[in-house]
Amino acid sequence: VERFFYPKTLDGQHWVITAGPTVEAIDPVRYLANRSSGKMGYAIAEAAARAGAKVTLISGPVCLATPFGVNRVSVESAQSMLDGVKDAVSGESVFVSCAAVADYKPKEVASEKMKKSGDDGLVMELTQNPDILKWAAQESGAFCVGFAAETQNVSEYAKAKMERKGITMICANDVSRCDIGFSCDDNELQVFYRDNNDVKQQAIGPASKSLVAEELIQLIDKVRQS
Ligand code: CTP
Ligand code: CA
Repeated sequence: VERFFYPKTLDGQHWVITAGPTVEAIDPVRYLANRSSGKMGYAIAEAAARAGAKVTLISGPVCLATPFGVNRVSVESAQSMLDGVKDAVSGESVFVSCAAVADYKPKEVASEKMKKSGDDGLVMELTQNPDILKWAAQESGAFCVGFAAETQNVSEYAKAKMERKGITMICANDVSRCDIGFSCDDNELQVFYRDNNDVKQQAIGPASKSLVAEELIQLIDKVRQS
């Protein structure tokens, strides 16, 4: 690991990383969101910056300090995260899509606080959000790395996602386990990547999210250069 960081192996590279959840407004005081502490994405941003990359971190609302040397762009909705990514990413970038993007948002946002009425439930109509990673893979020319948080059939779902999104690499984690994943300081990833006509697999961790991040950025750089 030391040799990788000194000299700075990612010198001259631009990495764009999304992290945290997106939040989708229902009315001025309520939102729909995904579970995400942002810790994995922030650890990747920190590791990439330490390895010499210029890092833009497009972050949903999280309770984390911006890592040293990282340019953070704070966003809320999936649409604003997409706008941030479009501003930051280019054909030369590495794009790591770590954010837990809300798949749906309320079709209409109430301009005033919604009042409770009657004793019945409430039906809300939702509409699909843009797929940021799919956009980056199809339109930006960046080298794109996805994440797949799954609760079952982890490798099959992750590999299918890699195909569907047209990306070279995907990092799967099993969020049904309570020792890794959500809000934890530790993580274990199964990374799948394309190698000519093969799909290769490499495990990273279990280890602290900062160690996992250091190994992951080295693997990303290796696959990208190959
Ligand atoms: N992603 C994204 N924009 C979205 C949804 C997902 O950029 N609107 C990215 C995530 O950051 C992650 C990858 O796509 O890197 C996979 O996200 P995931 O939620 O696992 O995949 P989906 O395609 O949304 O499928 P599903 O939620 O049904 O499993
Ligand atoms: Ca999703």
